[in-house]
Amino acid sequence: MEGIDKLGSAIDALSDAGYFIWDDFISIESVKEFVLIANEGSKTGEFKKAGIGKQALFQLDKSIRGDYIQWLDRNNQHKIVLEFLDKMEGLKSALNETCYLGLKDFETHFAIYPENTFYKKHVDRFQQNAHRVISFVLYLNENWQEGDGGELAIYLNNKTEVVQPLAGRLLLFRSELEHEVLMSYRKRYSITGWMLDKDMNLTFLP
Ligand code: OGA
Ligand code: MN
Repeated sequence: MEGIDKLGSAIDALSDAGYFIWDDFISIESVKEFVLIANEGSKTGEFKKAGIGKQALFQLDKSIRGDYIQWLDRNNQHKIVLEFLDKMEGLKSALNETCYLGLKDFETHFAIYPENTFYKKHVDRFQQNAHRVISFVLYLNENWQEGDGGELAIYLNNKTEVVQPLAGRLLLFRSELEHEVLMSYRKRYSITGWMLDKDMNLTFLP
């Protein structure tokens, strides 16, 4: 029941303010499990330095972003990852039913920001990445303290919203909004993704 209320609020907030914060989207036990999986993947070399741009325009630039990522898909061996993909699939359908956003698919990855890294101001939907409609970030940082940094700043018309990357919190926002990951003074974990208006295998098309 609470989920239904939240969904209604999320839909209203996405069309009005452009973003929505959904606390306790997953339990602390699940957060812990995701962090273990991310640490394991990080150890076995499954995380790669994240780049900017797509295909021919792809580049690595530490002065823009400092995170490492591992893409998550249906081939993943962890039940909790598959359950998360199901959950986001459900959210995508629910948003479609009420919002008419024409969401067809989504893509998602783990992200780890080592200490003292950031991601400069950017948008997620741009010329080379025109199919991202809604961005989502599930934060996995237990005991995050004021002063640890790593907040997400969303630049709205009349104000800047600063979101703490708290464990279990799902942030949804419209992908065309400018945003920035502020300097993180602690290792920062998340699962980031995008709801797309095109099937993922077709996003190389205009
Ligand atoms: C991104 C991004 C936000 C966050 O990966 O494009 O903006 O809070 N992430 O991690
Ligand atoms: Mn972004």
